[in-house]
Amino acid sequence: MAVQGPMVAALLFGLLKAVPCWGQALVDSGDPKEAFQPQSALSDMEFTTVSSYRGPGNNDSRGNKELPILLWWSAGLFPHFPGDTERIDCARSSCLVTRNRKVQLYRRTSAIVFYGTDFRAYEAPLPRLPHQTWALFHEESPMNNYVLSHAAGIRLFNYTATFRRESDYPLTLQWLPSLEYLLVPPAASLQEKNRWRRAGLAPVVYMQSHCDVPSDRDRYVQELMKYIEVDSYGKCLNNKPLPERLEDTGTATGEDAQFMSFVGRYKFHLALENGLCPDYMTEKLWRPLHQGCVPVYRGSSSVADWLPNDHSAVLIDDFPSPHELAEHLRALDADDEAYARLLEYKDPRQITNTRLLEGLENREWGVNDMSKPNYLNGFECFVCDEENQRLAAERAHRKAPTRHPPTKPRMANNSHMGCPLPAPGYGNIEDIAPSDGWLQMWPQDYWQSLDQAEGLVSMIQHNESDPSLLWNHIQELAVKRAGGH
Ligand SMILES: *[C@@H]1O[C@H](CO)[C@@H](O)[C@H](O)[C@H]1NC(C)=O
Ligand SMILES: *[C@@H]1O[C@H](CO)[C@@H](O)[C@H](O)[C@H]1NC(C)=O
Ligand SMILES: *[C@@H]1O[C@H](CO)[C@@H](O)[C@H](O)[C@H]1NC(C)=O
Ligand SMILES: *[C@@H]1O[C@H](CO)[C@@H](O)[C@H](O)[C@H]1NC(C)=O
Repeated sequence: MAVQGPMVAALLFGLLKAVPCWGQALVDSGDPKEAFQPQSALSDMEFTTVSSYRGPGNNDSRGNKELPILLWWSAGLFPHFPGDTERIDCARSSCLVTRNRKVQLYRRTSAIVFYGTDFRAYEAPLPRLPHQTWALFHEESPMNNYVLSHAAGIRLFNYTATFRRESDYPLTLQWLPSLEYLLVPPAASLQEKNRWRRAGLAPVVYMQSHCDVPSDRDRYVQELMKYIEVDSYGKCLNNKPLPERLEDTGTATGEDAQFMSFVGRYKFHLALENGLCPDYMTEKLWRPLHQGCVPVYRGSSSVADWLPNDHSAVLIDDFPSPHELAEHLRALDADDEAYARLLEYKDPRQITNTRLLEGLENREWGVNDMSKPNYLNGFECFVCDEENQRLAAERAHRKAPTRHPPTKPRMANNSHMGCPLPAPGYGNIEDIAPSDGWLQMWPQDYWQSLDQAEGLVSMIQHNESDPSLLWNHIQELAVKRAGGH
């Protein structure tokens, strides 16, 4: 045991080159007395008194110094203020959470939490320690990080909170504040909508200022515009100025009542997400329903599972071409009875989708709802409880291996994200000019993300401790692929 000290110190020194300060009790030395024990990076927090509030199921009586640590690698999202470190008392157990990266290599740091949009393979916490799990929070568009859409990327994580219903802590209805939001305000009457039609409004409105996106929505809308009149107010495909009062973009993108009623004059609202992925639904879908303006939607391929009923939206994917969609919309524009049916969901008795109703009822987090935790704190507590359970099971197994079987590893898979390769919004990829902005950007981004995911896996497998060597690993993989096969 006496010879172990210097060896451990040498190992620690190697590991810590990138870390500005010594940590405490890093990798197990076997004997706690042997490990160098400077003041903890979390010292302010270590000695504060145990907070009094607990969930009714939490009988965790440990002091802060004994709790497992969850490290927020994406420090900007750390959901506590002020300070860097906080004790959290969750439904079943407690943890210490911090955004202080000095704890990265601590034995006690059991999980590292990442925000998907910020997750970069060349900044990953390496070496990846076997006793630590990784947790991914990613509620934003797939376009923000395609690394996570590849199996190699998503499998790095042991826990996920994504928009996919298959995720461990699903955020599928994150953009829908409440059931009430669908019902109120009531839709403008059909007489009024028809009056606006006669006064010169197009049947369809488009309002988009974020133009070059993976879903390539503008290419579709441009084709559609050949066959049906569309009033387009945003920066993309603009053909009409907004009324002066609404010119301010801050108002135009918000929930401003005047803006809502302006859009509500229209019969149809082109609602195309910026990226396509199952269960990725945003305000693009829910806001037109709120406004009483039927969404003409493309985004989540499984959107029908979440709509108020089976006749509250027009789904672009149901039509073989923009031309045929335009014909359908024109027919609805001319048929008051058929159009009125699309707005029946404004009557609560007509919201019949039980998956939607139960999803809203059962989610534990709230949207602008002070009586419920937000989903960042909710996910943090989910990870805390799962980690305490895992650690307890591992302890039990170490004590009595025959009575307690080893814990099974858990990891995410493509069902937690798995968004497809961006494809043209309309037409065949072969027909698109090589100079096309979308073509130059998105398919390439998707495949480069695969390289990054595989490069990171390679770094982890090689015990790499310097993530900036990612490019070397990617190159080696490419050489191996080219030579080997
Ligand atoms: C806490 O409660 C759980 C379940 O009710 C029980 O199994 C456990 O022994 C309790 N722990 C302590 C420290 O009281
Ligand atoms: C966490 O995920 C990694 C990478 O997929 C895996 O190697 C490891 O066994 C998992 N850990 C646990 C505790 O499940
Ligand atoms: C993917 O993960 C889910 C749980 O999150 C699991 O139910 C499913 O079986 C996994 N799929 C595959 C192919 O491993
Ligand atoms: C990686 O490091 C761990 C300890 O940090 C060690 O147990 C393992 O053998 C190393 N693996 C390789 C491939 O060097």
